[in-house]
Amino acid sequence: MTSEREAMENLLNQAESLLHAYQQDHVVRCMKELSVEEKQKLAAQVLRVDFDQLAQAYRNRSTSSMGQGEHISPIPYFDVDTLSKEANEQYEERGLELLRDGKIGVIVVAGGQGSRLGHAGPKGTFDIGLPSHKSLFQLQAERLLQLSLRVGRIIPWYLMTSPENHEDTVQFFESHQYFGYPAEECFFLEQNTMPAMDHEGKLLLASPSELHFAPSGNGECFASLKRSGALEDMGKRGLTWLFYYNVDNALIQVADPVFIGMADLQHHPIASKVVFKERPEEKVGMVCLRNQRPAILEYTEFPEHVLNERNDRGDLAYALANSSIHMFRYDFISQHADTQIPFHVASKAIPHMNSAREIIVPEVPNAYKLERFIFDFFPLAEEMTVLRVEREKEFAPVKNKEGEDSPLTARNLLLRLYPEEGLSE
Ligand code: UTP
Repeated sequence: MTSEREAMENLLNQAESLLHAYQQDHVVRCMKELSVEEKQKLAAQVLRVDFDQLAQAYRNRSTSSMGQGEHISPIPYFDVDTLSKEANEQYEERGLELLRDGKIGVIVVAGGQGSRLGHAGPKGTFDIGLPSHKSLFQLQAERLLQLSLRVGRIIPWYLMTSPENHEDTVQFFESHQYFGYPAEECFFLEQNTMPAMDHEGKLLLASPSELHFAPSGNGECFASLKRSGALEDMGKRGLTWLFYYNVDNALIQVADPVFIGMADLQHHPIASKVVFKERPEEKVGMVCLRNQRPAILEYTEFPEHVLNERNDRGDLAYALANSSIHMFRYDFISQHADTQIPFHVASKAIPHMNSAREIIVPEVPNAYKLERFIFDFFPLAEEMTVLRVEREKEFAPVKNKEGEDSPLTARNLLLRLYPEEGLSE
């Protein structure tokens, strides 16, 4: 009994001294008013936090990642329009062979909060308004199943969720019988999270006994694959490549054999599909070389004159927009599952509990959310395969309620390509 009590006191003391050391005394004050169980719960959460990492992200919050003296240049790429018929066939054959041999897995990153779309529930459960009312998950499952049947082998499907939407996601699949996909080939994994902090660097509380943790970006993918055992599962299955995509792309050509074959035959650890930017000032990440290494730079990081730079043919020199469709080789993922890529800090409106224990739902950004981006792994590869594809055939992101990249734009693109989806079920 005494030792149990001692252990508990120890836990509380450790949490308190950490909080003091990192100027988080408001949490200590809050902790003092809690019941024993609640104190324990909060202390355990505090001990999960990497305060050094948090403090570093806070210190670097406004430094642009484009440093002085850095050199950017266009990245070489293949273009779907100029790929010869023979090359296309060769890549497709290789891709199909890898799929048949069970060497390819697929991961969908679905741990985001979809705040711009404002859909209550996991984004993959969203119905973009097709007559059939298929959700994004259903569209993806059906395409994946079709390809699996074509190659005669079910493709393992890893689904990255967040602690916030995990249960709802799994339940959605269960209640729809996995849309016909074999349940044992679906591996749901929860991604990592980071605490949110206010503009002064103070931790936000979600309730008296809980810190506010938020999913910390799709760049948590490799670490989360490892922590959850999915990486081990991939190893056991003998997978050599993982096809990666965003849950909100209504046109995703999941595990496209040509892209798989190209990635494999080019022998670089990463491959990425890109689309042409629609206009120079479009707010997208751009694929390029930075100090001779593959990279994606945010549009905010590009100096204006570079954004408008033209090549000898008069085309935009930096025209390759990120579509978030990538391939990562298994050995690269294993090698970098513990690599600490940087956190990007975004100011957001985050509901929280104030010192009077009231829940505040702000309308304007009040706090920082920390996110890692998957493309920060790109510079760790010496070279990367890049394939330019047609936006209208492969890229229909559902980000906003209306306007650009909305359910309406995605629906229109999808119906143009798959008119059969215009018929109700
Ligand atoms: P976005 O950056 O578009 O974020 O994610 P989001 O959460 O979907 O939407 P907003 O910004 O809140 O409106 C791109 C992809 O990365 C996934 C998303 O689910 C989406 O597929 N993602 C994002 C994660 O898996 N985890 C995260 O922590 C963040």
